[in-house]
Amino acid sequence: MTTEPSTDTQRLSPRPVGPCAMVIFGAAGDLTKRKLLPALHFLARDDLLPEPFAVIGFARRDWDSERFRRQMESDIQAFLPGNFRQEAWDWLKNRLYFVPGSFQDPEAFSRLREMLAEVDRLHQTGRNTLYYLATPPEQFAIVAQQLGAAGLTPDDHKGWSRVIIEKPFGRDLESARSLNQKLRSTLAERQIYRIDHYLGKETVQNLLVFRFANGIFEPIWNRRYVDHIQITVAEELGVEGRANYYETSGAIRDMVANHLFQLLSLIAMEPPNSFDANAVRDEKEKVLAAIAPMSPEDVLVRAVRGQYGEGMITTGQIVPAYRQEPNVYPESRTETYAAMKLMVDNWRWAGVPFYLRTGKRMRGRLTEIVVHFKRAPHILFRETPVHHLNPNMLIIRMQPREGISLQFSAKVPGPVLELGNVNMDFCYADYFGTAPATGYETLIHDAMRGDATLFQRGDSVESAWKVVEPILDVWSALPAREFPNYPAGTWGPAVADQLLARDGRHWYNLSSTLRC
Ligand code: BG6
Repeated sequence: MTTEPSTDTQRLSPRPVGPCAMVIFGAAGDLTKRKLLPALHFLARDDLLPEPFAVIGFARRDWDSERFRRQMESDIQAFLPGNFRQEAWDWLKNRLYFVPGSFQDPEAFSRLREMLAEVDRLHQTGRNTLYYLATPPEQFAIVAQQLGAAGLTPDDHKGWSRVIIEKPFGRDLESARSLNQKLRSTLAERQIYRIDHYLGKETVQNLLVFRFANGIFEPIWNRRYVDHIQITVAEELGVEGRANYYETSGAIRDMVANHLFQLLSLIAMEPPNSFDANAVRDEKEKVLAAIAPMSPEDVLVRAVRGQYGEGMITTGQIVPAYRQEPNVYPESRTETYAAMKLMVDNWRWAGVPFYLRTGKRMRGRLTEIVVHFKRAPHILFRETPVHHLNPNMLIIRMQPREGISLQFSAKVPGPVLELGNVNMDFCYADYFGTAPATGYETLIHDAMRGDATLFQRGDSVESAWKVVEPILDVWSALPAREFPNYPAGTWGPAVADQLLARDGRHWYNLSSTLRC
């Protein structure tokens, strides 16, 4: 007899959002149509937006509100095929407005002030405003400064103003510090919401629940029982026409200093005292601050880079090398792959390596954390045909098919003592189904409610740069000569395998072992 998985869920309705207006800077750009409007549409579908609500798009386009509505309607239909809900869209569409203008022009910010007054009159949005800076990073400081100069950032008992800032937050420690300073000259830290869309993913948030709502894992979550931890964020996609940005970024700036470090902090942090934003963020910050800084000599042995060449991806298609992608310099030294060994130098983790890797055009799309436990002592099996014991592994998969799997040894049936590896699997979809979402819904909703738990604090952003900066410095002083060094459609360069082989370990490319 088979039984359907069932779950005893404890659902709390999310705290409702009060009246507010949302202003999107860069409203004619890619992020708005691909993510922000679809996320607002899903929030409207789920009844999570307040009735007194409006969205004001701001961009350098000769559009009026009517034109903006038409444009967004055709974009959203293109980006949400199958998931488009007319009713939710109609509700949202009637709340869309547009202010044309340049970020440099104070007049445009006066027009924005007038529009905010107008939407308050029409929709009773009050004096609460969420600003979303979906702009190129060089505009972040100027927009914040213009908002301040126009008196648009009050935060008092009459209303709140909050500013969501997209990545990248600086390109090194100095620029991140300077950006923090500029923002804080207009805004208080509590008004700044630095987004990392990985924190909007359900399964990333589940890391906190998995670790801290279950009593059985915490006692073994430390250097006594854990041999090492692997964090993989592999993408099958290439640069997808974003080479102008990617050429100035590379894998470390694009993925490691933000998304991978978020996963690292959540997997390694101490239990916070509460779910209060600062309690959680204090503990995450301590993890980054505890990472032992690498000397230039360390970088040479503990960090490796790669760039993809032409190759065949899983669909059977031959894809071009990174250097052949449009707008990529023919001798580009930009890394499309990075791997490193980090040590978190605290009482819980001293001596336990954290191996991180990320790359584009890899063998598959895979975001996964593998906690590799220490082997049991062999002594009991000394006189048996079992020559070695396999370690237990806990595999936490975030993408593409979310689930958690515990790997352990079991006796193979029969008269001879033989061990086999077996899995205990939990697949998210079996229990909770999966609802279409962009990953931005929770983050936007949280910012409207004033909950900054899932946003990065200024000090953590700086700590992250402190960890990667020595690597970036060595790599820019010694540009890679061996690129391209891995064919598209593979698990990365040989140097990444050697990084682990030196420690007697290897990467787990486990995509096929989880049942989900
Ligand atoms: C973005 C990076 O932040 O994350 C992209 O700029 C990358 O290069 C993307 O492709 C990956 O996000 P996801 O949600 O597809 O894993």
